[in-house]
Amino acid sequence: MRIAVIGTGHVGLVVGTGLAETGHFVTCVDSNRDLIKSLNENVLPFYEPGLEELIARNVEEERLKFTTDINAALAEVLLIFICVGTPASDSGEADTSAVFSALQSIGKAMTGYRIIVNKSTCPVGTTEAIRFTLKSLTDHPFDVVVNPEFLRQGAAVDDFMRPDRIIVGCDDVRVEEIMKELYAPFLRTGKPLLMMSIRSAEMAKYAVNAMLATRISFMNEFAKICEAYGADIAEVREGLAADSRIGASYLFPGIGFGGSCLPKDVLACAHLAANRGISSPLLEAVSAVNESQQRDFVKRILEYYGEDIARKRVAVWGASFKPKTDDLRGGPALRVIDALLDAGASVVVYDPVAEGTLREQYGDKISITHKNYAALEGADGLVICTEWNEFRRPDYERMASLLRERVIFDGRNLYTAKSLAQHGFRYFSIGRPAV
Ligand code: UGA
Repeated sequence: MRIAVIGTGHVGLVVGTGLAETGHFVTCVDSNRDLIKSLNENVLPFYEPGLEELIARNVEEERLKFTTDINAALAEVLLIFICVGTPASDSGEADTSAVFSALQSIGKAMTGYRIIVNKSTCPVGTTEAIRFTLKSLTDHPFDVVVNPEFLRQGAAVDDFMRPDRIIVGCDDVRVEEIMKELYAPFLRTGKPLLMMSIRSAEMAKYAVNAMLATRISFMNEFAKICEAYGADIAEVREGLAADSRIGASYLFPGIGFGGSCLPKDVLACAHLAANRGISSPLLEAVSAVNESQQRDFVKRILEYYGEDIARKRVAVWGASFKPKTDDLRGGPALRVIDALLDAGASVVVYDPVAEGTLREQYGDKISITHKNYAALEGADGLVICTEWNEFRRPDYERMASLLRERVIFDGRNLYTAKSLAQHGFRYFSIGRPAV
């Protein structure tokens, strides 16, 4: 099939490349000329394991192209994927303006029947508005389907190529058949393609992210209760995870969920409820627990140093909102770094891949090291914000000799209190007794 993908962010690039990988001819369109120029030179705007190689192969085999020319890209395609961002607006409602501005361009560029596949996360009811808007922009026939995306940054290629399920919201049987054909290569292991109504598919996307966020906030709340009673959340987690009714994933406590999806989608769900006069105390609590989790972690660090903070140099390991990405958005590390800077501390950060995004965000306000141990030299303590694998088994003796003050604030529970106590560290983690 011939396919156009509008938007070359995380979702658009992975979707376009993944579809090309199964033999389709895909053109990715973006209005950002610099971005398209970089993509044509195989320079990606973000770090995503495995994606660069996949793009290079599909470009080489002429199944994947990048352009700013939307008219040419849409000339002979059957499917047009919309993959643009829908960030949270100030009120918490999803801002869908990029979707509607893409529609303006699509409407002008259409030359015949097209299927519009919306992958951007939009409030329930948006598909009807998309249909209505496009009808006013073109006389050509079209269908619109919703096809939410469940890829995680850092594991996006794998999530797209080997999905747990594919959800399509559709109200036309012929279009259903085309979507089944499109996705057949991804479902050979028997994973389901779930066809449902358009509104249900729109809601399912929000429900999944809200459920994941709920599990994390639940664990973070329990972590606090554990601390207060001398229980260990890591052991409590094992008790939960072994129950087949509960399962093991998304039960890791930490310094709160971040990123560009979970926080904004929980807010957007609460907004959807409020728009219909429904109260959503659970969703509000999920956001509130997340907020307090980040706030309390920062407070603990500031309280530890007290008034001396302005004379301290604090090392931070990990800045991205989670491992295997260079994305800082919504990440707890930003909160920690900002608070330390505001309090007058000097901050030295190490992150395996986020050096560029850190520099963009902070300029010269922080020091950035290329190696993890270098950040510890002469520092008055270490804060761990992201659970990169390379931090899991460090050389404690080396850490102890480099740090001026042996204290670790671990937002990801990477170490055990016992092993750190042996090396003379004070150790604060999440939901476990402090040492
Ligand atoms: C999330 C969803 O997992 C994807 O399925 C979805 O497609 C995507 O949002 C989206 O809507 O586009 P992502 O934001 O990439 O993906 O990140 P996750 O891997 O879900 O992690 C989100 C946050 O939760 C991170 O800050 C992570 O550190 C935190 N987390 C995750 C925990 O604190 N504990 C856990 O047990 C799991």
